[in-house]
Amino acid sequence: PDSSVTLDRQQRLLVVANRLPVSATRKGEDQWSLEVSAGGLVSALLGVKQFQVIWIGWPGVYVQDELGKQSLAKALEEKGFVGVLLDEETVDQYYNGYCNNVLWPLFHYIGLRQEDRLAATRSLQSQFGAYKRANRLFADAVIKHYQEGDFVWTHDYHLMVLPSYLKEHDPRMKVGWFLHTPFPSSEIYRTLPLRSELLQGVLGADLVGFHTYDYARHFVSACTRILGLEGTPEGVEDQGKITRVAAFPVGIDSERFIQAVETDAVKKHIEELSARFAGRKVMLGVDRLDPIKGIPQKLLAFEKFLEENPHWRDKVILVQIAVPTRQDVLEYQKLASQVHEIVGRINGRYGSLTTVPIHHLDRSMKFLELCALYAITDVLLVTSLRDGMNLVSYEFVACQNEKKGALVLSEFAGAAQSLGAGSILVNPWNIIETANAIGEALNMPEEEREERHRLNFMHVTTHSAQVWAETFTSELNDSILEAELRTLH
Ligand code: G6P
Repeated sequence: PDSSVTLDRQQRLLVVANRLPVSATRKGEDQWSLEVSAGGLVSALLGVKQFQVIWIGWPGVYVQDELGKQSLAKALEEKGFVGVLLDEETVDQYYNGYCNNVLWPLFHYIGLRQEDRLAATRSLQSQFGAYKRANRLFADAVIKHYQEGDFVWTHDYHLMVLPSYLKEHDPRMKVGWFLHTPFPSSEIYRTLPLRSELLQGVLGADLVGFHTYDYARHFVSACTRILGLEGTPEGVEDQGKITRVAAFPVGIDSERFIQAVETDAVKKHIEELSARFAGRKVMLGVDRLDPIKGIPQKLLAFEKFLEENPHWRDKVILVQIAVPTRQDVLEYQKLASQVHEIVGRINGRYGSLTTVPIHHLDRSMKFLELCALYAITDVLLVTSLRDGMNLVSYEFVACQNEKKGALVLSEFAGAAQSLGAGSILVNPWNIIETANAIGEALNMPEEEREERHRLNFMHVTTHSAQVWAETFTSELNDSILEAELRTLH
């Protein structure tokens, strides 16, 4: 094994995900600047004290020359990261193609038109080839840095064949896999042309985790129906080997948000924003500009609400933050135009010389600005058509201790199963129902708002990201011990 990443304390945990939580920019021939992004996974794993975490993933840049490759590897290594370098062709076929144009829509129940799907099927074989090649590169990186006894935690739909590659190399490796998206009904999953290899790949893991019990159940059904394996109360059994399958709903590092709202910087933003929106109720949407987020449905519901409630027209504003994502994929480009068209129409119809009802931004926000925006919001609107979990709803709740605003939440987000009692649940496909929910949220009596917020806040602060990571890793440990015991008997 490579000893360049050294063991200086505790148990090591290799965390393998498509993207490293860092963005690298080249500053000179052998100079790199690295910006660590404090996304959910990072803060979750920062809280797991018993592990020394080593990240393995794609740094999101293309590097062709040897000097660049070596200097990047060194810069990453200093921060505990191992980079898996992918070339442009691989990224196009594996990431844009198979991951984001095939698996992502399928796992979120987004139907392609028959002819589009037929066209996509033609390139499937070569895209799946690239997918497997990319998974192999991740496996090579893990194998290079692996030391006996390490835990290996692989993540998401990008890396479904990786667990079996690792086990083929060394059956004693302790491997977990967690899916951050929904796993669809087996009736949907089984329409995937190349469907068995992915399931077999995942079953290489000792423990397989999902956000909700439903997703876990769908996965077990897919394994029983497609692979003919046996589903047991613990998971899936293949020739005596049991892969444990369970639900581990993710959370956020709520303290980070709660504390941020108390800082002077955020308080200053809050003052500015409150002055800017004075006299109006603020409704907020924060989404990646992704077809699964139901942004057009949300806009149509808001339009319906304004149409039906003329007295609200100059008393409410919808701030929609739509963070651009996966812009090389056609569906995402089409969605951007569609959203812009609807926003333009609504603003044209209900705007005035001095104001418009929708304040739409095509960009991400800085962390402190986002916290301020969450804090001044009266109603958060999450209308995902499908969403593995949706942590925007959690972040909002963590920032709302002053205002205790209302949450309108899609029943198709995993979060509906944890924040359901504290939210107004909607079927985002039903525009009238969502428009009514907007009215209900805006008019909700204070006492009810406080009670709902209390329920949500309690959940968000107790089911933290740290708890999630600790539960998964200790369950991984247990599954391995149980498997060892079984072989002894
Ligand atoms: C989802 C996926 C993540 C992914 C993220 C952003 O949350 O589960 O694996 O990283 O979307 O998408 P991107 O394609 O930009 O990494």
